[in-house]
Amino acid sequence: MLSAKMEAALNAQINAEYYSSYLYLSMSAYCREMNLEGFASWLRIQADEEMIHAMKIYDFVHERSGRVTLTAIDAPPTEWESPLAVFEATFAHEQHVTALINKLVDLAISESDHATNSFLQWFVNEQVEEEASADAVLQKLKLLANAPGGLFMLDRELGLRPAATPPAPAT
Ligand code: FEO
Repeated sequence: MLSAKMEAALNAQINAEYYSSYLYLSMSAYCREMNLEGFASWLRIQADEEMIHAMKIYDFVHERSGRVTLTAIDAPPTEWESPLAVFEATFAHEQHVTALINKLVDLAISESDHATNSFLQWFVNEQVEEEASADAVLQKLKLLANAPGGLFMLDRELGLRPAATPPAPAT
């Protein structure tokens, strides 16, 4: 059984994951508008992954006999200065999400909620990858700053990202 405080914190994280999805989808639309189809595809797949993260928490709350409460998702920005600015924002956002996950772990530990702590370790590990993949693109964009032709090569590379695979639905 989840405590009321843990339940509220997990519900807030469901909202944060959906906001992340909305943010990346907005970035994807911006890149698509710029005819950067590979960037748009990478970000759309990222948006799909965030919905998978949200649903993992949604299922976990139910498994622990908690109540899922969905709340309004904030509107994301719709404009950025450049693809570089998009990935600066992506990397910063993932660092923010890591901080949110760490706070959830702190709460689970403070409540001796070992099951939630164990569940959250998947997210702790996932955040290492999330930050690394955003930073990898960001570093490449920084290298390309003075070579616009390179943007098209990177666009092609990002277009190769495979689709996100949802986990099997909870029973
Ligand atoms: Fe759900 Fe990108 O963290």
